[in-house]
Amino acid sequence: MKVLVISAGPRHDGNSHALADAAIDGARAAGNDVEHLFLDDYVERLLGNCRLCRSPQDGRCSLDDRYAELLLDKILPADGIVFAMPLYFYGMPGRLKTVFDRLFCYTANSAPEQETVVNGIAGKTVGVLISCEESYVGATHGVAAQFQELTRYLNQNLVGIVVGNANSRGEIAHDPSDPLARARDLGGRLFDIRVTDYRIDTARSNRVWSGS
Ligand SMILES: Cc1cc2nc3c(=O)[nH]c(=O)nc-3n(C[C@H](O)[C@H](O)[C@H](O)COP(=O)(O)O)c2cc1C
Repeated sequence: MKVLVISAGPRHDGNSHALADAAIDGARAAGNDVEHLFLDDYVERLLGNCRLCRSPQDGRCSLDDRYAELLLDKILPADGIVFAMPLYFYGMPGRLKTVFDRLFCYTANSAPEQETVVNGIAGKTVGVLISCEESYVGATHGVAAQFQELTRYLNQNLVGIVVGNANSRGEIAHDPSDPLARARDLGGRLFDIRVTDYRIDTARSNRVWSGS
């Protein structure tokens, strides 16, 4: 399977990128075709007013960075995406939020790529890796809920969120809960993790694991 790992923090030698590296190792060891990129090489501009930004010639988004390449050539072809991010003010970094905001420019009725992007963005498996200083559970509640909702909206499968605690560069390797091992495991089992979500009338056995 094709896996895209996106490091969304500006510190290329930082903790969230260390989590990304571990997930890459795991995904490669499991036999996947893995590509990695740093988000700051692709996204510079914020979502604008599409009526003003769209090119009058062909209706395409005219914001002059590499977002279109990221979306059309990297994100759409991937079967699985792993987002690695530092926690900023209890949320995702603005540059990563912009990836989702600017999807609007490509999925709105007036977007020339609408059909390709709407069909291509759905069905992906998603994992999230978060590095943050604070360890209380509430610190990452907001961003975990946001990923749950946005993947649900995009018809994607959120299979896991790894949180590690660290502040200075590289410190994540000293977190005794071993987030690097958990990130490696998430990368390795990305397409094997079974996510269940039942309703009262869902037909099911009384066991979670077959053979147990
Ligand atoms: C702008 C900014 C905001 C931050 N906000 C939080 C926060 O709300 N909660 C927290 O636990 N850590 C916060 N941190 C700390 C980082 O999440 C933490 O240092 C993380 O390990 C950095 O990852 P990196 O090494 O990949 O940059 C913040 C750091 C910065 C620079």
